[in-house]
Amino acid sequence: MKQADLKQPETSSGIPVELVYRAEDLEGFNAAAMVGEPGEYPFTRGIQPTMYRGRLWTMRQYAGMGDAEESNKRYKFLLAHGAGAKSRGGLSVAFDLPTQIGYDSDSPLALGEVGKVGVAIDSLEDMQRLFDGIALDTISTSMTINATASILLALYVAVAKRTGAKIKELSGTIQNDILKEYIARGTYIYPVTHAMRLVTDIFAWAAEEVPEWNTISISGYHMREAGCTAVQEVAFTLADGMTYVQAAIDAGLDVDAFAPRLSFFFNSHNNLLEEVAKFRAARRMWAQIMREHFGAKKERSWMLRFHTQTAGSTLTAQQPENNVVRTTLQALAAVLGGTQSLHTNGFDEALSLPTENAARIALRTQQILAHESGVAQTVDPLAGSFYVESLTNEIERRAEEYLATIARFDLGGKYGMLRAIERGYVQREIQNAAYEYQQTVDAKEAIVVGVNEFASEQEVAVPIQRIDEALEGRQVERIRALRARRDAGVHAATLACVEDAARSGENLMPRIVEAVEAMATVGEVADALRRVFGEYRESVVV
Ligand code: 3HC
Repeated sequence: MKQADLKQPETSSGIPVELVYRAEDLEGFNAAAMVGEPGEYPFTRGIQPTMYRGRLWTMRQYAGMGDAEESNKRYKFLLAHGAGAKSRGGLSVAFDLPTQIGYDSDSPLALGEVGKVGVAIDSLEDMQRLFDGIALDTISTSMTINATASILLALYVAVAKRTGAKIKELSGTIQNDILKEYIARGTYIYPVTHAMRLVTDIFAWAAEEVPEWNTISISGYHMREAGCTAVQEVAFTLADGMTYVQAAIDAGLDVDAFAPRLSFFFNSHNNLLEEVAKFRAARRMWAQIMREHFGAKKERSWMLRFHTQTAGSTLTAQQPENNVVRTTLQALAAVLGGTQSLHTNGFDEALSLPTENAARIALRTQQILAHESGVAQTVDPLAGSFYVESLTNEIERRAEEYLATIARFDLGGKYGMLRAIERGYVQREIQNAAYEYQQTVDAKEAIVVGVNEFASEQEVAVPIQRIDEALEGRQVERIRALRARRDAGVHAATLACVEDAARSGENLMPRIVEAVEAMATVGEVADALRRVFGEYRESVVV
């Protein structure tokens, strides 16, 4: 077919893809400065000089379902199959929605959701059962929790204290990224100002009490799942990151005191080479933002360290085994892009939470990439590619245009992203991108194998992970029994201290730790804060 007949494809971000890329596509590009060396500013090639030759990425499988016992079983299964990294195991806790939005399992608002999309955690006793038989100083634990992040972090530290783990050496990450909840995920509770204060209270408290702990996982994942493009994922995630850094500085923190413990979380989607370029562009942009815009002096403050999850939104219910191939390609992109930690989706997750078999295949996918594919043997292998370097530059350029637009929402101010979210700009950009993509699928311009092309008449049935319906009742009984036997006076006093701290502006973490150690529940602490902060009311975005 003549070149002229070839319809010019585009990446997910609408970047035209040329038939051939050549040296002239990089004319004038200062590769020495802008690509440089791995482990050196601006870290385009990766944050470590040796990357996976020094240490493989952490194979960190997101998991959690039912009650603490059931999730504890799945964590032990994953650890037994190699989850984590050679030096230490890696876990990633999924909480159910009531836990995420601060309702106890016996709340009427929790009915039907207890233990469904993650594990139900109401109290210190549940948290201790969750990690029963797992020494917290031998693993790093991620917790996907945002509005109630302060409470779950306090519970984790309380379990560590009870089980004799060295608190100062606790390793892990709390997601603690409330802005993306207003934008795309929805598990928010409090108005923005109070929610941002909780975020920066965690920054300040963790720097002293758990200095090895990553205090936030600034997430692009969920915005991408909501339909944004790769360029938007970079722009909106880094804009959120800049907002947190600014808020922490305005709260009186020194940027180099907290920046080294910021972390990020990205999606890895279908367009493999665009995803690799996306990760490289994001690393280079963040390094420049931190050194040039915020004046951070520490090298670790400039490093964008990130976790990746393969794209849940690309999984199909049709021909579900095809999802093993999609997940493999997406995981390959994350590794070629230099991720520090990776979750690979189960092939059955368009249908349910993953079965054990699907979770094992997902982990084995990472192990095959690490040990059989050869891609971990050299750093940033696609560097120098005319296409990948051109695409890295173009993603950076377009993302910078978004950052400039967002900054204009707060002329002369520093919180353009907050204003852009309040005005619905970010949400509309994501909705428009999602709508445009869906139109290409409906028009069969974008092919989804097994769905709008190569579909099967007969679907192969696959086993489905089920949640025991009786579980909710058992969890409700547990929390009611706890309330009946705890010391009501102590519990009430500690909750009052939480409210006082919320009003006075002192750091909330010490009071929340005391409260959960006195057996206050997640819902009770969240309600104490509701009484002072009120709740966020979403403005309708049209
Ligand atoms: N040479 C020398 N040292 C090296 C090295 C090398 N090549 N590679 C790594 N290291 C060091 C690191 O510097 C680090 O040491 P440090 O703690 O002193 O800095 C140590 O080895 C561990 O390496 P990493 O910190 O890179 O790896 P971790 O896995 O511990 O941390 C992270 C990765 C991205 C920084 C961290 O924030 C993390 O684990 N994030 C995970 C977040 C997560 O799992 N989120 C799940 C969300 S699920 C969700 O929201 C989706 C749902 O809603 C659908």
